[in-house]
Amino acid sequence: MKKTALITGATSGLGYEFVQLLAKEQYNLIVVARNEEKLLSIKSEFPLLNVTTIPMDLSKPGSVRKLVEEIQEKELQVDVLINNAGFGLLGKFDELNVEKQLEMIQLNISALTELTHAFLPQMKKQKFGQIMNVASTAAFQPGPMMAVYYATKAYVLSFSEALVEELAGTGVTVTTLCPGATKTNFGSVANVEKTKMFSKAMDATTVAALGYNGMKNGKRVVITGGSNKIGATAAKFLPRSTAAKIAKYVAGDK
Ligand SMILES: NC(=O)c1ccc[n+]([C@@H]2O[C@H](COP(=O)([O-])OP(=O)(O)OC[C@H]3O[C@@H](n4cnc5c(N)ncnc54)[C@H](OP(=O)(O)O)[C@@H]3O)[C@@H](O)[C@H]2O)c1
Repeated sequence: MKKTALITGATSGLGYEFVQLLAKEQYNLIVVARNEEKLLSIKSEFPLLNVTTIPMDLSKPGSVRKLVEEIQEKELQVDVLINNAGFGLLGKFDELNVEKQLEMIQLNISALTELTHAFLPQMKKQKFGQIMNVASTAAFQPGPMMAVYYATKAYVLSFSEALVEELAGTGVTVTTLCPGATKTNFGSVANVEKTKMFSKAMDATTVAALGYNGMKNGKRVVITGGSNKIGATAAKFLPRSTAAKIAKYVAGDK
């Protein structure tokens, strides 16, 4: 029987690339994002697949419950869950809009957590499931000028690695994808395109393929690109204050 994959943030960037990879392997798809027109355009790309479009703003409390209810009503089963939707914001914590930052926490942390909680029991029951949680190299150190964003990604990494241990032997795997700067809409949404951190951005197709292969092979953590791997390793050994100062430096203009 064909397997079904749910991808959040499917309309652009990494999410759109995951859709392409899963479609190539004939998965049925449940695609979620806010822009309904773009979701319908994805559906029309794959007339031979069963593509379910669910427009939803996952930064709104209660949205995941509605999404899960809709999936249950349609009697769909989720075998692969890609928690990808997320955004960042550049600026000093106290100067950025507090509501926007709380929406970021809701999307990057709460929606990801609630979706994982909703679909894990079925995955465990069927002794198969693949979950990919998209974090970032931001997960490895504090990030002045993007304080909330970096903290949300540290949560995603910590949460996901803990689940790997809880799920050992169940047939369900959890992979955390940690990309560095990648050419998607993220840069313009977060207003980081002109910063040093974006001087060497990878392309989304490469980053998504690395994550996807990692998920298929049940890898625990995938850090994309050689320099991002070096940066993530260095952050583990540096004093946190030094790592934070470097993060502040790269958040400055090119
Ligand atoms: N690009 C990078 O440099 C980079 C680096 C590290 C990690 N990441 C992470 O990679 C993930 C994917 O981002 P991306 O780079 O592909 O950025 P992107 O091109 O901006 O894509 C973000 C996706 O999330 C959806 N989305 C945004 N807000 C949403 C909401 N409130 N509810 C539902 N869907 C929402 C967007 O669609 P709609 O606008 O239609 O809702 C879009 O499909 C994020 O978690 C990001 O933090 C990106």
